[in-house]
Amino acid sequence: MGRKFCVGGNWKMNGSKDSITELAKILSAGPLDPNTEVVVGCPSVYISFARGLLPSSIGVAGQNCYKVKSGAFTGEIAPSMLKDVGADWVILGHSERRAIFGESDELIADKVEFALSEGLKVIACIGETLQEREAGQTEAVCFRQTKAIASVVKDWSNVVIAYEPVWAIGTGKTATPAQAQEVHAALRKWFAENVSQAVSDSIRIQYGGSVTAANARELASQPDIDGFLVGGASLKPEFVQIVNARQ
Ligand code: G3P
Repeated sequence: MGRKFCVGGNWKMNGSKDSITELAKILSAGPLDPNTEVVVGCPSVYISFARGLLPSSIGVAGQNCYKVKSGAFTGEIAPSMLKDVGADWVILGHSERRAIFGESDELIADKVEFALSEGLKVIACIGETLQEREAGQTEAVCFRQTKAIASVVKDWSNVVIAYEPVWAIGTGKTATPAQAQEVHAALRKWFAENVSQAVSDSIRIQYGGSVTAANARELASQPDIDGFLVGGASLKPEFVQIVNARQ
C-alpha cells in the first residue's frame, strides 16, 4: 500500500553530550535501510546538538510542546522553538505525559492541532493500560484517544500514530505480533469508518513497547505495523537492527 516504514527512537529523559555523540556515530555508520524513515525523539535541550551530529536523513523530534506560540508559560516549549533548534517532528500524547503529567485527551488534541499548524510533523501516541486491557476496553480506549486527535487533524500526511500499550512500555513484556496486529487492524478500520478510506490506507501506525532487535523482525512482518516507537533499545547499537527490521 506504499506506507513507508517509520522507526522512531524515543530517548525520553536520557542522555548527555557524550552519549549522544556515541549514538550519533553508531547511527551515522549504520547502514540504515534507505526505505525506512528514521526519527529520534531527543530531550529538547540537546536537539540542536543532536541535529548537528546526526545524518540529515534522520529526523529529530521534540518529546513534547505546548499549545500556543509564546508567553507566560514557565517551563514550556513552543513548536516554533523546536523548529528553531532543528526539530521537524514532535512526539505528543505519550503515556508518560498522560499518566505522570496528567495530560488529557483534550490537551493532547490542542497540542497536536497547534504543532501541525506550526509546521511540525507529529507522532501521536495512544494505548491502553493493563487494567483497561483486562477489562476488555482496549479498543474503546484506543478509539477514544484516536478520536480526540482526529477531531483536530485535517491533513493526515504529517501524522504518525504510535500504538503503545502501556503494559508493554519499559517492562520487557512486548505485545505479541498477533496482539499488536489485532489493535493496528482495528485502528485502521476505525480510520476507514470515521475519517476516510484514503487515510486508513495511508496512515502509518507504529507499535511501541519493549521493541528490541530480537522481536522487531516478526512485529515488522505484520501487515498493519508500519514501524516502531522505541524507548530503551533506541539508546543502544541494536537500534540499527530495529530500523532495518524490514530488510
Ligand atoms: O515511546 C517509546 C516507548 O514508550 C517504549 O519504550 O523502553 O518499552 O521501548 P520501551
